[in-house]
Parts: sequence; C-alpha cells; structure tokens
Amino acid sequence: MVDLEFKYKNLIEKIQEEAPFKPEIALVLGSGLGEFADRIDTIKSIATHDLPDYPESTVQGHKGFIHFAEHGGKKLVIFQGRLHYYEGYSISECILPPFIAKSLGCDTIILTNAAGGINPNLRVADLMVVNSFFTMHIQKALTELMGVASVDQKNAFLDVPALVLGHKFVQAGLDEGIALKEGTYWFQTGPSYETPSEINMLAKLGADAVGMSTVHEAVYAGINGMKVGIISCITNAAAGMGHEKLSHKDVMETAELVKTKFERLMKRIVEII
Ligand code: HPA
Repeated sequence: MVDLEFKYKNLIEKIQEEAPFKPEIALVLGSGLGEFADRIDTIKSIATHDLPDYPESTVQGHKGFIHFAEHGGKKLVIFQGRLHYYEGYSISECILPPFIAKSLGCDTIILTNAAGGINPNLRVADLMVVNSFFTMHIQKALTELMGVASVDQKNAFLDVPALVLGHKFVQAGLDEGIALKEGTYWFQTGPSYETPSEINMLAKLGADAVGMSTVHEAVYAGINGMKVGIISCITNAAAGMGHEKLSHKDVMETAELVKTKFERLMKRIVEII
C-alpha cells in the first residue's frame, strides 16, 4: 500500500498554500469536456506543471490545470486534465485529483468521462449517469490504495462504490430538460479501443458503456468517505456497434458537440447538491 501523504507531502503543502479557499465540491473533467472550466467563474488557476511531483498528462484534450471556482454559492476545485492508467501511470498517480480534493477538505466529487456506448439505447452525445461500474481489469492495481489485508472489506467497497449522487444528477437533468440515460460503466485499461468481439462479450456481461478512466478515482474517493457521482458522455458507439472507425479525434468532436448541454447540467448539479 502506498503512503500517499508521504509521497505527496510537498505537493499538498504547495497546493494548500496556493488555494484561495477551502473547496466543497471537486469536479474532474473528462476527455474533451475540459472547456467547462472556461465557462465558470474562476478565482484562481494553477498549472499542474508548477506543482512538485505532479505528473504531466500526455493525452490530447487534457490540459493540466487545477482551477478554483465558484458557482451558485458553492466553492469548487476543478481538475482540467486527468492522468490515465494507460499512460503508464501507477494507480497512486492516477488518483491524484481525488487525493488532492480530499486533502483540501472536499466531501463531494463529480467525475466525468468520455465513453463508448454498448447498450443500443445509448446514442452518441447522450449523457449517462453511472449507477455502477466494473473494476475487473484494475483490481490488482487497486491494492496500492487499500493494501491486501482486508480482502472482504475491499471487495465490499468495490461492489458498493458510494455512488450516492446519481439521484441528484437525475433531478438536475429534469430541471434542465436534459434527458439523462443511466447505466453501468466498464473500465478497460486501453489505450487501444476494444474489438467488436470484446464489446459483444461486455454487452453480455451487463456493461452499458466502456471507457478507460474514473473507476479507481471513484473507489479512492468512496473508501475515503467522499460522496461520489459519475457522468459519462457517450462520444461514440463502441466497436462494432456503429459503422465508424474509432478515433480519439471523434471522441473529442462529440464532446465538443455536447458542451452546452454538459455546462447546463453541471452548473445545475453544483447548485442542487
Ligand atoms: N472505448 C473505450 N474508451 C472510450 C471509448 C470507447 O469506445 N470512447 C471513449 N472512451
């Protein structure tokens, strides 16, 4: 088990020094959804490369900023740029956003991501409230966060990942007239997209959407007592479910299309949670 307090002592000291206030809510922006940070009242922005021991995000569409912002009387910390397991980072690096959020005193975290739609009811540009997820591909690596001693407890946490904000997300969607879908997210390590046969298998196992992030952040936040909610932006039909060849460029383009809807939803969520 990695001692995160020890590993990131300098980083946390620096960010606590720089933070203009104690945030209540953290928001992690997924692939292509980063522009939201430019559409909210930002009080202060910190480039992650100015923080000691903060790894560089190498993926296009992940900028590497931590913003402190306010909306609807709530104080937010927004992570624009995420670290992915497929970039070669360890779990203790990938969970830096929720770790920082927790260290700054946030009790709530909203995780967003881009995902491929497996369930045929999901359309490109839909927003899906994640009500459960699969962590099979990352279970061993998760021991970095919780050790190997309490196996029962670990499995219980993984099965019940504290996704307690979903009903508020649905309410925010109703308030804004945005029809949200709901479903189960399957984590793939990536970086390559799945084959049609793999997607066929995942559909049979009960996955509604597939992506390459988020679940470890949710597990970390959940086991550390934070309220967690996840929204997936369905950026493409998963392999074999549509006719397009999958590409990160298309993922980014769809995320661009949903940005107004996403902004309205996120702002409303922040107002009501
Ligand atoms: N598969 C995995 N991850 C993804 C996808 C996909 O189809 N779309 C966006 N992220």
